[in-house]
Amino acid sequence: MTAKEADWRPYRVIDRKVESETIVSLDLAPADGSPPPPFRPGQYLTFRFADRAGAPTQRTYSISSDPADGTRRRISVKREPGGVGSGHMHDRMPPGATIETLAPKGAFTLDETSNRPVILLAGGIGVTPLLAMAHALARTARRATLIHACQNGAVQPFARELGALARECASLRYAVCLAEPTAADLAARAFDFQGFVTREILQALLPIDDYEVYLCGPTPFMRAMFTLLTLLGVAEPRIAYEFFGAGQSLRAADVSAAPATPRTGAAPQADGDMVVFARSGLSVPWDGRHRSLLELAEAHGLTPAFSCRAGVCSTCLCEIEGRVRYFEEPLDIPPAGQALICCSTPDGPVTLQI
Ligand SMILES: Cc1cc2nc3c(=O)[nH]c(=O)nc-3n(C[C@H](O)[C@H](O)[C@H](O)COP(=O)(O)OP(=O)(O)OC[C@H]3O[C@@H](n4cnc5c(N)ncnc54)[C@H](O)[C@@H]3O)c2cc1C
Ligand code: FES
Repeated sequence: MTAKEADWRPYRVIDRKVESETIVSLDLAPADGSPPPPFRPGQYLTFRFADRAGAPTQRTYSISSDPADGTRRRISVKREPGGVGSGHMHDRMPPGATIETLAPKGAFTLDETSNRPVILLAGGIGVTPLLAMAHALARTARRATLIHACQNGAVQPFARELGALARECASLRYAVCLAEPTAADLAARAFDFQGFVTREILQALLPIDDYEVYLCGPTPFMRAMFTLLTLLGVAEPRIAYEFFGAGQSLRAADVSAAPATPRTGAAPQADGDMVVFARSGLSVPWDGRHRSLLELAEAHGLTPAFSCRAGVCSTCLCEIEGRVRYFEEPLDIPPAGQALICCSTPDGPVTLQI
């Protein structure tokens, strides 16, 4: 067993709760009875398990529970039709079942040193990391508004939990926006706005202030919200976001930098090493604005394969000339000539077979 292999720890399901028509929560704790390691609100856990055919599989799920709970960690999983990982979590993880997991990871975390008011803006299942943040914020006097956009009340999770949190904490506001409320939703009137989140809704909820925003949800939702927020004057660096699936940079500079046709030979910045995406015929300077080579590729319209974005699954492994530096240590360091681009930055000029 390698040292990295030893990082995987068995966790046991100690509770399972249906949150909505599509989402279940699993409460997990180390199977040996020890307390789970601490996590920062917004981080995720990586799991590995055998799929129905016995193939080793990894998936990542954000921790949705209160970081102050030292006994258990909750994940909340939306079932994807035909999805391997979500199907496993829904169908094969009853109370008592075990699964291996790594220590919490991820850089999409609440800045708990700041006093700025916070906007937590969630689309659907994207609420999970923001829920942990809401619990942490509810123990402070910092003003926070959680806006949850969902299709309807049948698929909306955590209404009761967030409603209770907001009632207990005067500085936390909770607003629900249902795109297509059902007849039952309309009768119960248990939502604040109907339709998509608009500029008017944001203006109604958020008096002008110097906000920090944490954004998570489906890609079209994230794009729309990012645009709205910047139109309302929120500075881009104040908007942190996380993709659960294939992602692209939302920052305007990156979007406009994404070439309509591949470009080659762009002049490197004074302090920027050149990153060549050889198969795409694209060369771009590394200017330090992206977290990883994967994010740089996505910012320029490329769509390399990935799954965990955490150095665990090797999906993003690619051939490389040059060297990278890992900011998140991969589970297995790739051999020379290969690199995991989700958790590395260039260490000098590099050429990637992407
Ligand atoms: C940082 C991070 C945090 C996350 N947090 C959460 C969370 O809190 N909650 C949550 O629910 N998810 C979360 N996710 C997403 C999660 O990791 C999985 O990606 C998600 O559960 C889907 O995985 P799956 O195995 O069920 O689907 P997959 O099997 O990977 O498939 C995904 C989709 O593609 C379709 N598909 C698969 N194979 C094919 C094929 N051959 N042809 C056509 N279609 C196909 C499936 O039907 C499915 O709809 C997070 C992801 C990241 C990166
Ligand atoms: S996406 Fe899993 S290791 Fe990079």
